[in-house]
Amino acid sequence: MNALPARAIELIHGTAGRPVTIPQLGFGTYKITPHDTETAVRAAIELGYRHIDTAQMYGNEAQVGKAIAGCGLPRDQLFITSKLNNTAHEPARARESFDATLRALGLEVLDLFLVHWPMALSGDLIGTWATMIEFLDSGRVRAIGVSNHQREHLETIIKATGVTPAVNQIEIHPYLTQEPLRTAHRQLGIVTQAWSPLGRGHLLRDPVIESVARATGHTSAQVVLRWHLQRGDVVFPKSVHPERIAENSQLFDFELDDDQLARISALNRDHRFGSHPDEVQGAK
Ligand SMILES: NC(=O)c1ccc[n+]([C@@H]2O[C@H](COP(=O)([O-])OP(=O)(O)OC[C@H]3O[C@@H](n4cnc5c(N)ncnc54)[C@H](OP(=O)(O)O)[C@@H]3O)[C@@H](O)[C@H]2O)c1
Repeated sequence: MNALPARAIELIHGTAGRPVTIPQLGFGTYKITPHDTETAVRAAIELGYRHIDTAQMYGNEAQVGKAIAGCGLPRDQLFITSKLNNTAHEPARARESFDATLRALGLEVLDLFLVHWPMALSGDLIGTWATMIEFLDSGRVRAIGVSNHQREHLETIIKATGVTPAVNQIEIHPYLTQEPLRTAHRQLGIVTQAWSPLGRGHLLRDPVIESVARATGHTSAQVVLRWHLQRGDVVFPKSVHPERIAENSQLFDFELDDDQLARISALNRDHRFGSHPDEVQGAK
């Protein structure tokens, strides 16, 4: 079994002050059907990925759990993230759903649990974050964070509770570089995780990315993922194809120079392939 020479990033807090490190390259599981999930995650682990990103919303935690249970690696060599569903923000429901996540994954302790969407217009940002802190204090999760939070959401929950999220997982790729929010993360001491790092595959034919790919002798996907890594963000590309899962992990034998990094960053057009946080609301 391979082990990727992926860098590890230290997260801001863990239970009882224990340091928590997260591999900078992980494997994403959004839109992988329950039927395909165990095979895809097993392939990723065999190729050396040690960090798996799932969510209650994806409906595939149980299959991620099967892949973990069957992979033969000691638990402490894997880093597993899941996320609180939008329908489970109310504290009693959050507690039930966190229990269900641990059961589905077959884990006693999760590595990272995130609030999936802030639900700021329909929910209670502070109450939900306070419940997440309860999970951290219980020792059943090593670090807690958020996803799709904007600067004002981050400042609100930090001010109210004194607990800074370890990470904020947001959409980032060359067409949406998110500089203002990444700056806020640096100022607040929050690690940036980039979701849809490949722009869901839509930007791989971009002429600038293709030209950097030709110049480096790597694929467009590898160039984009390398751009993220050199910016210091955490990524977890998704694929159901073993050859792409392998391709997306071969990122450590080349480096982009400053000019190449700048040309890719200049592609920013603030274009989202996913939803804006204000659009995702719904039942609490
Ligand atoms: N927190 C959030 O709200 C949130 C939202 C979205 C995603 N996420 C997380 O971020 C992860 C990654 O984002 P994502 O799945 O939306 O998109 P992504 O990783 O940017 O792109 C995945 C798409 O690109 C294709 N692809 C993958 N590798 C490729 C390659 N080497 N060459 C060509 N095409 C390739 C995949 O197709 P095939 O599968 O057919 O290969 C799939 O269609 C998710 O899986 C999930 O874990 C989080």
